[in-house]
Amino acid sequence: MNFESSHHISLGQSIPSRNAKIAVVGLGYVGLPLALTAYDAGFDTIGIDLNGTRVSRIMQGAQVISYLAPDRIASAVDSGRFRATQDRAELADADIILICVPTPLTADQKPDMRFVTAAAEDVAMQLRPGQLVVLESSVWPGATANLVRPILESSGLRAGRDFFLGFSPEREDPGNHTFGTQNIPKVVGADDPLSLQLIEDFYNAIITRAVPVSSAATAEAVKLVENSFRTVNIALVNEMKTALEAMGVDVWEVIAAAATKPFGFMPFYPGPGIGGACIPVSPAYLSWRATDAGSATPLIDLARHSNDAVPATLAARIAADLSRESGPPVDPARPLGGQRLLLMGIAYKRDVEDTRRSPALVLLEQLEILGAEVDYHDPFFPHLPEGGEFANLAGRQSVPLTAESVKTYAAVAVITDHSAPDYALVASHATRIFDTRNVFHRIGIAVDGGRLIKI
Ligand SMILES: NC(=O)c1ccc[n+]([C@@H]2O[C@H](COP(=O)([O-])OP(=O)(O)OC[C@H]3O[C@@H](n4cnc5c(N)ncnc54)[C@H](O)[C@@H]3O)[C@@H](O)[C@H]2O)c1
Repeated sequence: MNFESSHHISLGQSIPSRNAKIAVVGLGYVGLPLALTAYDAGFDTIGIDLNGTRVSRIMQGAQVISYLAPDRIASAVDSGRFRATQDRAELADADIILICVPTPLTADQKPDMRFVTAAAEDVAMQLRPGQLVVLESSVWPGATANLVRPILESSGLRAGRDFFLGFSPEREDPGNHTFGTQNIPKVVGADDPLSLQLIEDFYNAIITRAVPVSSAATAEAVKLVENSFRTVNIALVNEMKTALEAMGVDVWEVIAAAATKPFGFMPFYPGPGIGGACIPVSPAYLSWRATDAGSATPLIDLARHSNDAVPATLAARIAADLSRESGPPVDPARPLGGQRLLLMGIAYKRDVEDTRRSPALVLLEQLEILGAEVDYHDPFFPHLPEGGEFANLAGRQSVPLTAESVKTYAAVAVITDHSAPDYALVASHATRIFDTRNVFHRIGIAVDGGRLIKI
């Protein structure tokens, strides 16, 4: 038996027996559910994160991701088979290492691979023969082969011979109670057959189904194509909203009717723009890599710019509407001067505690530039967090939603339609309502007197 096949066989045997030890690098929205899924499947699992506060809270059993079952983290920790640590040296004990670190954009909108590079360097320091390393972060096609692999091979070990390497894109949909890590099929790709077989075996052991593809770059491209598809369709539906509104047609009714077609149409819905760590970012990675490869993605680039412009367009729309009511502004550059507005929902998505790249916060800033005094209400954010791209808003507090307070605003604008707020109260007491999500219609609350404006 040759060397590489002996490593392959021993790791291959430790997967069905659940003797393989799993390490997940990065315990965020992707890494933590993934680590718990490996634990649920019977594997001893550790999670490694640089953020000491997050590690401590996880070890205390705190529900650091709101939509996970309340006792899921605590019971995993109590079992003794799952724990979180900051100690990267523990990577040496793992048989399978899954890297789930952030892949944001730089200030000039290019791929920021610093976290992936740093995590790969940590793994390289501890790499030993027989380990399987899988990158899960969303990256440009070629990153596993051309960025991660050389870092790991700087250890002197060779991928596909001494250790195994591949890519599997994360498809986590935060807040989705129907599809979680365990029951979403997972694409897996590697550049050698032994790595691909091990990755396929591992994911088949922890989730519903692994979907093998012929290379790591193919698997990397799958993720970017999925997110670019959504980016383009969101831009398209927002454009349709504006065009149909000019014709006096309700886009929401059109989509509901079009969605009855059993083939060839997939509903996307208008909104205040796109946010989160994924949908706005992946198309930029694809575009950057296409240019690098001598190609281009003009349609995707146009959709990105179109989506980025939505919050400013909505702010101008709100200003125009309120100015019609209150007469010409004293200062045309600040048409909302003196107007108090309440934004409902500042997370980027319904029922998640995440404001990364949230269009609601961009809209808040735009409305203030136009002179408004803006408060917000969001049950997931009693106050706005420190750091990140909205550092200037840190510390602001969510205002309570009461009949008395709602009446004091010139308008209430629903930006992110969390489940918890009392929309009936808003419908009864708000002077004017701007609804970017069609939430009042969706949950069947009538707003009388023409006070509701879908924007
Ligand atoms: N959030 C989503 O909905 C989602 C969905 C699909 C894919 N993704 C992709 O998954 C990846 C991770 O995203 P996320 O939302 O989980 O990010 P996140 O910011 O929620 O979590 C990342 C975690 O990694 C930790 N970290 C950073 N560098 C580290 C290092 N060198 N070693 C150990 N820990 C480190 C951070 O402290 C943080 O806790 C990204 O590439 C993202 O694009 C995210």
